[in-house]
Amino acid sequence: MLIRNAVTAAGQPTELLLRDGKIAAVGQGLSGLLQPQEPVLDAAGKTVLPSFIDLHCHWRTPGFEYKEDLTTGSAAAAAGGYTFVNLMPNTKPVMSDPSMAWQIEQQVEQIGLCSANQTLSITRNFDGTDIDHLKTLPENVKFITEDGHGVQSAEVMAKAFAICHKKGVTVMSHAEDMDISPWDYRLAEDIETVRNLYLSQYYQTRLHMCHVSTRGAIEAIAQAKWNGTPVTCEVTPHHLWYTHDVCDYRVNPPIREADDVQALIDAIRSGVVDAIGTDHAPHSEEDKLKGAAGMVGLETAFGICYTKLCVQENIPLTLLSHLMSAGPAKILGLDSKGSLEPGCDADLVLVDLDTPYVVEKEKLHSKSKNCPFDGTTLYGRVCTTIKGGVVTYQA
Ligand code: DOR
Ligand code: ZN
Repeated sequence: MLIRNAVTAAGQPTELLLRDGKIAAVGQGLSGLLQPQEPVLDAAGKTVLPSFIDLHCHWRTPGFEYKEDLTTGSAAAAAGGYTFVNLMPNTKPVMSDPSMAWQIEQQVEQIGLCSANQTLSITRNFDGTDIDHLKTLPENVKFITEDGHGVQSAEVMAKAFAICHKKGVTVMSHAEDMDISPWDYRLAEDIETVRNLYLSQYYQTRLHMCHVSTRGAIEAIAQAKWNGTPVTCEVTPHHLWYTHDVCDYRVNPPIREADDVQALIDAIRSGVVDAIGTDHAPHSEEDKLKGAAGMVGLETAFGICYTKLCVQENIPLTLLSHLMSAGPAKILGLDSKGSLEPGCDADLVLVDLDTPYVVEKEKLHSKSKNCPFDGTTLYGRVCTTIKGGVVTYQA
C-alpha cells in the first residue's frame, strides 16, 4: 500500500510504502515504486504517526467479560490508534499461570486488531505472600505486576525483585501502601514509590512505575533515574487532564491537584516520563455505582494528550508521539515497533489535528461506557489505524 499526502509529526509532507507488513520506504516521490496491484490510500493531509502502544491496559478476560472481552477490547484499541497492549493480571482467576497468559496472547492475535502481552501477578492469586510461581517463569514472561493493589510486604517484594533480577523480568508497580491509602492516598503512593525505587536500586532489577500521579512520586523517580536506578515510568491521560476540584471521578490513584499535574507536565518536558499508559479500566454502570475505580481510556488517550500537552502546553507532537509509541516499545522490548523507519512493522495511525470533536461515550467501541470525558471537546482524532499493513480501524 502507498500512503500519500500525509504529514509527519514534525510537519513535513511524506509518503509511506508498506509491503509484507513492514514499512518499505518513507519520503517523497514513492509513486514510481508502486506495483500495479498495490492500493493507494490518500491521507488528505492527515498526520501519520507510529501506532500507539499501551503499557497499562485492563481487558477483563477471564472472569469479568461483562465489562470488556478480548473482542471489544481489541476494537477499542484499534479505534484509539493502538496496535499493541500490555494487559494487567487482575482477572478472575488472577493471572498467575504462564500458560493462561500465553493463551490470552494467542486469542488476541487471532482477533487480528491488536497484539498483546499478558502480564502475570507478582504474588499468586494476589495473596500477598506466595511468589513460588516466579521461580519457574518461562522465558517469554517478562513483566509482573500486582496492579490494582501494591504488594504490601517489603520482604515479599524484595524476594520478588531478587528473582526478577536473575530472570531479566521487569517489576511493574502500582504504588499504593494499602494500610495508608484509606486515610491518605498521596502518602500511600509516595511511600510505596520510594520503597520500590530502593529495591530496584539495591537489586538492579528493572522497575516500571505505573500511573504516577503525585509530585512526590515523580520527583523521587527523577532523583532515582539520576542515581542510575533502572526505573521507567508512565503517566495517564486522566492524571494530566483533570484536577480533583474539577472532576473527582473515582479512579486509583485518585485525581490529584493542580500542583501534581504541573509536576507531571514538567517531568514530560524534562524527559523523566517514559510513556503514556491509559490504565483503560472498563466497568459496568452497576459496578461504578458500587464504587469500582477506573475509567475506559483507549479511545480518548490521544485526543486528551494532544489537546492538553500539544495544544494547551505547547509540547511538540514529536515528544507526545514518542511517549505513546517508541517509549513503550522500548520498555516492552518491541524492537520493530514504535517507529516509521523502513524495516519497522507497518503499524501506524493517521490523525486529524485540526478539526475539533466531542467525545460521545455511547459511540465508544469498548463494552463499558465509564468515561468522564463524555461531552468534552478535543483535538486530535484518530482517523485510520493500520497494523501490519492492514487497516484495522477507519473512522
Ligand atoms: O482505577 C483503577 N482501576 N486503578 C487500578 O489500579 C485498577 C483498575 C481496574 O482494574 O479497574
Ligand atoms: Zn493500577
